[in-house]
Amino acid sequence: MIVENKLTDNFDRDFPYLRLSITDVCNFSCSYCLPDGYKKGKCNGFMNKNEILRIVRAFAGLGTWKIRLTGGEPTVRPDFINIANDISKITGIKKLAFTTNGYRLYDNAQKYYDAGLRAINISIDSLNANKFKIITGHDRLNEVLDGVNASINAGFETVKINTVLLKGYNDDELDNLIDFVADKPVSLRFIELMRTGDNQDYFQKHHLSSSLVTEKLLGRGWHSIKREDGAGPAVEFKHKDSAGSIGIIAPYSKDFCKGCNRLRISAKGALHLCLFGELGYSLREYIQNDSQIEDLQNKIRELMSFKRSSHFLHDNNSGATPHLASIGG
Ligand code: 5AD
Ligand code: SF4
Repeated sequence: MIVENKLTDNFDRDFPYLRLSITDVCNFSCSYCLPDGYKKGKCNGFMNKNEILRIVRAFAGLGTWKIRLTGGEPTVRPDFINIANDISKITGIKKLAFTTNGYRLYDNAQKYYDAGLRAINISIDSLNANKFKIITGHDRLNEVLDGVNASINAGFETVKINTVLLKGYNDDELDNLIDFVADKPVSLRFIELMRTGDNQDYFQKHHLSSSLVTEKLLGRGWHSIKREDGAGPAVEFKHKDSAGSIGIIAPYSKDFCKGCNRLRISAKGALHLCLFGELGYSLREYIQNDSQIEDLQNKIRELMSFKRSSHFLHDNNSGATPHLASIGG
């Protein structure tokens, strides 16, 4: 598809990639995200399937070709598979991905694949069952690991594991985690813990710099490789003896924002120009019927002028994001 009106910002970045949250609800209670579990508000008001599809059509017409469904936990929505199925058929969408905590993945991986999903990110912060339970509130490590294998077997083009680096929890597991991908076509990405509105003390205690992982990888003969088209901000490493790769996502590194190629939509239909942006801009009034697509596209284009060059997370600023379950990480 030739896109005449490709979306760009004031810094010459374009946006092939949209992270689309479809619910804030999560059934896990990760200690850095929702330590007390998801608390239902007065009114959820998440977008319905038609509103979601209108968002995707508008972005596809502006050059977006990769969509990631996020949450909360996107698979807790009863219409998750229907949503995926419909999005995967929208002209221009070449890659449909999702992020999951792995709950019931073993049972559902094939169904997700059959709905047109082709890339999956699974969160696993520890390979020690007890620590996994302490971090997530669920004694489900083995079940999630079975889900990883089920995803590989179902034929997903990319299977990635997200591991948040946590001092005191998994800093003694780095070698294990690196070895985990030796015989699997999987990319495991170490993510530096991000400071959010709700986790300030936790951040002080558990933030671990990713330079530790970089040093370890280089020391073990791994080397960094070039970024793929449409790829996220991870620096990827390979090793000749490992089937899998390792990525590092360091949001506080100085070049993190330079290659920014993504926008975010919250489950309530607000456009977030940056994970740590102060505000979301509601698009809700523009997604109420199919005839509004041009107005919606114009609105999105107009909002792009507010996208800043960087998250400006210098030192202590955590932006307005209380926790990442509200905007999908
Ligand atoms: N810092 C880093 N990663 C986080 N995630 C959630 N909250 C944070 C945080 N504060 C991760 C989850 C998941 C992804 C969607 O975002 O572990 O892998
Ligand atoms: Fe749920 Fe993901 Fe937050 Fe964990 S990090 S509580 S899995 S939204």
